[in-house]
Parts: sequence; C-alpha cells; structure tokens
Amino acid sequence: MDSIKIQAPATVANLSCGFDVLGVCLNEPYDEIEIIKIDKPEVQIDILDSKFSNIPNIPSQNTGGVPAELLIRDLKLNFGFNIKIKKGIPLCGGLGSSAATSAGVVYAINKLLNSKLSDIDLLKYALEGEKVSVSNPHADNIAPGLLGGMILIRDTSSLDISKVPINNFYFAIIHPDIKISTEVARNILPPSIKLDLAIQQWGNLGSLINAFHLQDLNLIKKSMQDVVIEPYRSSLIKFFDEIKKISINSGALGFGISGSGPSMFALCENENIAKEIVNNSKEIYLENNIDCDTYVSTVNNIGPKVI
Ligand code: HSE
Repeated sequence: MDSIKIQAPATVANLSCGFDVLGVCLNEPYDEIEIIKIDKPEVQIDILDSKFSNIPNIPSQNTGGVPAELLIRDLKLNFGFNIKIKKGIPLCGGLGSSAATSAGVVYAINKLLNSKLSDIDLLKYALEGEKVSVSNPHADNIAPGLLGGMILIRDTSSLDISKVPINNFYFAIIHPDIKISTEVARNILPPSIKLDLAIQQWGNLGSLINAFHLQDLNLIKKSMQDVVIEPYRSSLIKFFDEIKKISINSGALGFGISGSGPSMFALCENENIAKEIVNNSKEIYLENNIDCDTYVSTVNNIGPKVI
C-alpha cells in the first residue's frame, strides 16, 4: 500500500470529574488525513483548505509532522511521507484538535507499515507530536483518539490505560467562538486543592466509572460533577451557566467543559435531547453575536477510520 486516507476523530477530555485521566472518542467532528509514500525519507505537509486550516505546514511545528519524522528516523525508513491534512475539528477548541492530527498521522503511517507498531508505541509517538502544542501532554485526548471508546488513564508516564464500556449515548457539543489557550486554562487552576474537594472529586470519578459499567443512568447523573476544575475555568466561557442550565433542564445526564474549553459537552440518552441542547445553546451565542459550531455525535468505539 502506497497511500491511505483516514478520518481522525475529535475527543472530549476530562468528562467533568476525570481531569487529565478520562477521555472519550466521538464520531464527529473529525479531520481527514491522506498520507502518500514518497521516495525521499522526509516529511512534506500540505494543509488543505477548510474553516480550521490555520495550522503550520512545517513538520517540526506540526503535531503530525513530528511523530512522522521520528518514525522515519527510529525505523530507519528509506522512504518518506507526503501528509495532506484537512482540519474539520476546531483549533484550540477543547476537542482534541492537535491530538487528532498527531494520532491520525501515527495511525495512518502504521497502516502503511503493515501495522508493525503496538498500541503503546503508537501512543508514545502520538504523545511526542502533542508536545508541539503543550509542553507536558496528557493522554486524555491521544488515547481515545487512537483507540476509540472511553479511556481511563491510571498513569500517564507509563501509559497504563484501560477502556471503560460506553455505548448508546449521544454527545451534544457546543463550541462557541471564544479563544482560550490550554496554557491559560491550566494557569488559572490552583496548584493544590483542599482535601474535602479531593474526596468529592474521587468519589465522583470512581462512581462515574462504576456507573458506566453498571449502565446506571441515575449514578452517571449524580457522579458527572466537577467540583475542582469547573469553578475556575467556567469563568473563561461566556454564558457557561446558561448553557449548563439549558442542558440539565433538557434532560442531559451530565454536562461539563470539554477538555480545556471553550467547548462544552452534554451527555444525552437520545438524539432528540442532544439536538434540543445544541439548537438552544447556539441561539444564545448567535443572539449575542458570538459564532458557534455545534455537533451531535455518538461515541466512536474504534478511533480513526480508513476511508
Ligand atoms: N486534560 C487537559 C486539560 C486537556 O483539561 O487541561 C487535554 O489534555
């Protein structure tokens, strides 16, 4: 095989109470990535036109370019890759856009290499790509973006991860056009938290994971609460409280900031609830002259897809 074209999906990190350790893969939105083998052992990147095409095409500055170059070097390949990226995931939106590029490129190259790399190797290379956008990357976008489904990360440095069963849910995704860099969203957080808050948060996270195993909707509803991060970050997102109220009143099982924001997610039992939430939320932003992209997505249980 000399070329491959794939979809690299968006992801929702944190899922309220799982800051830096929990993430889920969506079917929408997604990037499209085509990789063509070239004779020289080098990486060329073409950014195809789209609403979110404002990313670097220099390999050392691109989250997909870096792992591609590392793979050529480490595997001593005598050929290289022309990588064409069409971004469909908003940039700096809290939907794992940089991770999708990184994970998608690593996944596609591995397919061109007849799947010679293990999942852990793929994760390691994809994380190297994420370092272009954040100095200390977490695997809560990369792991679900590569492997699909919902992923719980016990330890980032050893990439000790496991899949949590999740199915038949719909995610309402609201992405207002508000610029928040991950750096700002992390710097706003306190360096330490009080024990009583930590107890609430790990009670919620443990119960949330158990609730997904038990398919206990009432327990999901009670547990999907973030008492540590949301109080700080929500102040960066205009109309956060209004969107949360809309979501809960419409019957969402849970609501929170997606990754470091500004996107927000609502976990819903069915498509109608998710559609109602995105429509009503979008109206609030548009009435206030803030552009807003919305998506209704099911869970993507496989990660990137060959198209
Ligand atoms: N968990 C990260 C954060 C997002 O909320 O800052 C992506 O790793």
